[in-house]
Amino acid sequence: MPGDKSISHRAAMVAALAKGTTRVTNFSTSADCATTLSCLEQLGVRIDRRATEVEIRGVSSYFQQTSGPINCGNSGTTMRLLAGILAGENLESTLTGDESLRSRPMQRIIEPLTMMGATIDSDDGHAPLKIKGRDPLRAISYELPVASAQVKSCLLFAGLAARGRTEVTEEFLTRDHTERMLQYFFAPVETRAGAREGSRIVSVQGPAVFGPRSPARMMSELSVPGDISSAGYFLAAAALLPDSSIEIGDVGVNPTRTLYLKQLRARGLDVEISGAHDECNEPVGTISARSSHGRSGSGAAAPLSLHGSIVPQLIDELPLLAVVGSQIEGGIEIRDAAELRAKESDRIAATVQNLRAMGAEVEEFADGLRVAGGASLRGALINPRGDHRIAMAFAVAGLIAQGATEIKDAECVAVSFPEFFESLESVVER
Ligand code: S3P
Repeated sequence: MPGDKSISHRAAMVAALAKGTTRVTNFSTSADCATTLSCLEQLGVRIDRRATEVEIRGVSSYFQQTSGPINCGNSGTTMRLLAGILAGENLESTLTGDESLRSRPMQRIIEPLTMMGATIDSDDGHAPLKIKGRDPLRAISYELPVASAQVKSCLLFAGLAARGRTEVTEEFLTRDHTERMLQYFFAPVETRAGAREGSRIVSVQGPAVFGPRSPARMMSELSVPGDISSAGYFLAAAALLPDSSIEIGDVGVNPTRTLYLKQLRARGLDVEISGAHDECNEPVGTISARSSHGRSGSGAAAPLSLHGSIVPQLIDELPLLAVVGSQIEGGIEIRDAAELRAKESDRIAATVQNLRAMGAEVEEFADGLRVAGGASLRGALINPRGDHRIAMAFAVAGLIAQGATEIKDAECVAVSFPEFFESLESVVER
């Protein structure tokens, strides 16, 4: 798999903030991560890229004033994380993006960054965001109103430029790549359990100067594990198709990302992690899946129910799980997932529309959907609404379905995985 998208964004930004030069290998090939690099370059960070090897020269906290707006394209992670960095810089900058990104909620970062002392003008809580940073910011203690790793990370980055200890409480666990990346660069970050069961408090002590890993050479080396979310499409396809198996090595198996595998296993799908070990402070391992055709029943008639505190850890895999749900006995019910409507597209509406087009029985809720199991999908024309994860989830559906499936504007997969169709072709026998 290409390098993990979430980790690559953080590698680039933390390397830019750190002292010394960082060499990143297996950097994500996604358009989103290329966007992060070009935004950083616009801010004066020197970056050398040769395919998936990227060298980033840290500027500590001396970003350059940009002349025009900084375009974050389709990437919510770029915009929200970069906003956290820019809030703590004595600069005025404007972050904008494509139509999808300009329609996504930004109040969730505007509110806490304003509490910290930044001034942010927006279009009614949407980008473009005009950020007037302040150095130093005020440290705050903040409880996340939405379970979002992007908001958490934004505030941790801002906290690095604040005077004192910035604490972010999350009621529900979200991916912890920022914490791990900061730790890897020796930044002052700490995690402890919160008062409520399952909650966590992550804090940073600012103003922070950190890195490099190797002070004598003023260098840090970092390798990015394969993207476990991208792997999901291949694993699900191998498990659902007859006479299939796949093994994917060097893929990230961070426990805040692997919950979808557990859900697949819970319904009898044969998916397994082996050889997990740590590399650059992230767990990496091998994941294999094999045909579980006809064994997925496991006698359960009730739908696989995904709701509550586990949803944030499954957030990017829910469209794929909905497709898988159409094939398992009892189907699937996803609730408490209204956040899906605020992703690159309204992923609830997109999943419902496309599953129905393929003949599945689907009920739509404000916060999720229910899909009847054991469906015989038929090939259809899929409209992914420009959303890479919808396109890839329905490519898997297309493999299962009878007849041909055509995915409109399928090149949108490049947002996270430009080689997706080539990779799929290379493992699917006609
Ligand atoms: C991401 C966090 C998630 C996820 C997105 C990437 C990240 O968003 O959906 O694809 O890299 O932090 P939220 O944290 O806003 O839910």
